[in-house]
Amino acid sequence: MTGAPRPVFDSPAGNPEFEPVASVTDLDDGMVLQRVRPSGDAICLVRFNGEISALSDICTHQHFSMSLGDLLEDGTLQCAWHGTRYDCRTGEVRQVPATSPLPVFQVRLDGDTILVGPRCQRIDGKYEKSTVRVP
Ligand code: FES
Repeated sequence: MTGAPRPVFDSPAGNPEFEPVASVTDLDDGMVLQRVRPSGDAICLVRFNGEISALSDICTHQHFSMSLGDLLEDGTLQCAWHGTRYDCRTGEVRQVPATSPLPVFQVRLDGDTILVGPRCQRIDGKYEKSTVRVP
């Protein structure tokens, strides 16, 4: 491809708030994957319908690992312990017992590398959506 330059994503060196956590090739569509950032945050990466999102790996009900749960056909991520279901893009609770949303982190791609950044803002009880589409 020639012509206009492609958008350039922030690299870890260019923006230390974004950290590489995995390769796109590690995460097939319909998969969830646990990663722990160098900063210590446990992250649950989700790839659903070609979009990647990064949520907290810690269920807001009783702290179970969300990456041990299931990604359902409706785009909810179900905790394996008591069955709370969260929207995999916004972290919004779709089925109790949890009542607080799952924190969402900003996510970007740099080539095949998935970068996770700061936690998104929480507005009206849910976190801002942050997903990146796999080319
Ligand atoms: S720990 Fe996740 S629903 Fe209870």
